[in-house]
Amino acid sequence: MAPSSSTDGPGAGLPASAEPPREEQHAGQPQLIPPPLSLYVHLPWCVRKCPYCDFNSHQGKGALPFEAYVDALIRDLDLDLPLVWGRGIHSVFFGGGTPSLFPPEAIERFLQAASARLRFAPGCEITLETNPGTAEHGRFDQYLRAGVNRLSFGIQSFDDGCLQRLGRIHDSAQAAAAVKLAQDAGFDNINLDLMYALPGQDLEMALNDLERAFALDPAHVSHYQLTLEPNTVFFARPPAGIPEEDDAWDIQEACQAALAQAGYAHYEVSAYARPDRQCAHNLNYWRYGDYLGIGAGAHGKITLGAEQTILRRWKHKHPVTYLQTAGTAAAIGGDDRIAPKRRPFEYMLNLLRLREGFALRDFSARTGLAPEFIAPALQQALARGWLEQQDGRIVPTELGRRFTNDVVELFLGS
Ligand SMILES: C[S@@+](CC[C@H](N)C(=O)[O-])C[C@H]1O[C@@H](n2cnc3c(N)ncnc32)[C@H](O)[C@@H]1O
Ligand code: SF4
Repeated sequence: MAPSSSTDGPGAGLPASAEPPREEQHAGQPQLIPPPLSLYVHLPWCVRKCPYCDFNSHQGKGALPFEAYVDALIRDLDLDLPLVWGRGIHSVFFGGGTPSLFPPEAIERFLQAASARLRFAPGCEITLETNPGTAEHGRFDQYLRAGVNRLSFGIQSFDDGCLQRLGRIHDSAQAAAAVKLAQDAGFDNINLDLMYALPGQDLEMALNDLERAFALDPAHVSHYQLTLEPNTVFFARPPAGIPEEDDAWDIQEACQAALAQAGYAHYEVSAYARPDRQCAHNLNYWRYGDYLGIGAGAHGKITLGAEQTILRRWKHKHPVTYLQTAGTAAAIGGDDRIAPKRRPFEYMLNLLRLREGFALRDFSARTGLAPEFIAPALQQALARGWLEQQDGRIVPTELGRRFTNDVVELFLGS
């Protein structure tokens, strides 16, 4: 998952506002404690732009400047290093775009440079997003040797008609073959991205997509409802045959049941995993962890312990500008310090996506705010049956999960 462009991802939040000076923070309030740190690396090119996609991805023209881009990534990382001196890295995610367009040698060179600059924690999860239609998929063993230990395949559907209507560059046979090649090369931690409520799709077809996915035995399935995003071809000219909201809801419920039946635990709005196979990188976003964002348009969030503040930083979006400026202040699209009053909303926007909910002491450590700060909103959410207390944690109820936006909004004015 890319924190660079998702509208409901970890980068989403309130409009920028100034951080109050330190002395305006209340005496005796909890300390911000830097949480686990991840590294997001954005690789912005694709073979072809899909008509539904609003990610920062660009159709590659001619030979792509892989080596120059890796040089730019390393300069970019050097620029951000002072923000995270001494901290270890718990996960790395190459997102896109289509990272599998990059040759394994380029990925390896970046990982070597990153591990020379940052301490990678033992068992560090390193994910590469992969389009099954990219030529590199014959070289999975080399990605593995480069250090990648998790692949996330953009499958979307196993129905060839749906794939065509989505403008995908591969068919279902190529998708299944690519996953098998990766497994033969030694990858055992594989995610498959599927979308549902597709043009021309009915319930039976959506369930059939899942059956085809289960046959490949992935460790993780991401199951997204197709959304029509502004600035996409589908938004301007919606395709015929998109299921009505009620039908989409039926598909979602039936698919959730099928995923549970197949042994995939539902741990986040769209994420399902076999035991111990949750995505560590995305979990860190949803737990309001920290991440460096390297690459065109990438967003980062860093807790600065000494300053007792949280910094959001993002990089210029366009690959050409990024290539020209990476490593200099000119590549920084913006720096925004998250004022204390904005933190409860941001925290809930992420945490309430998770079935596990949160503990109040984690809320305090990650926002620097006392639980009393959110007491009125919390009381309302509990009274409305949207949240409940379970074993010392605050968790969303089934009702709360249906109205996540309303629950999160309660914390806007905390
Ligand atoms: C950045 S893409 C990376 C995967 C890779 N580029 C590919 O498409 O093969 C991440 C995933 O987001 C999902 N996605 C993208 N646009 C979407 C949309 N409009 N609605 C729902 N899911 C979407 C797709 O499942 C996609 O695989
Ligand atoms: S291949 Fe993936 S990132 Fe590229 S345009 Fe399609 S969905 Fe978006």
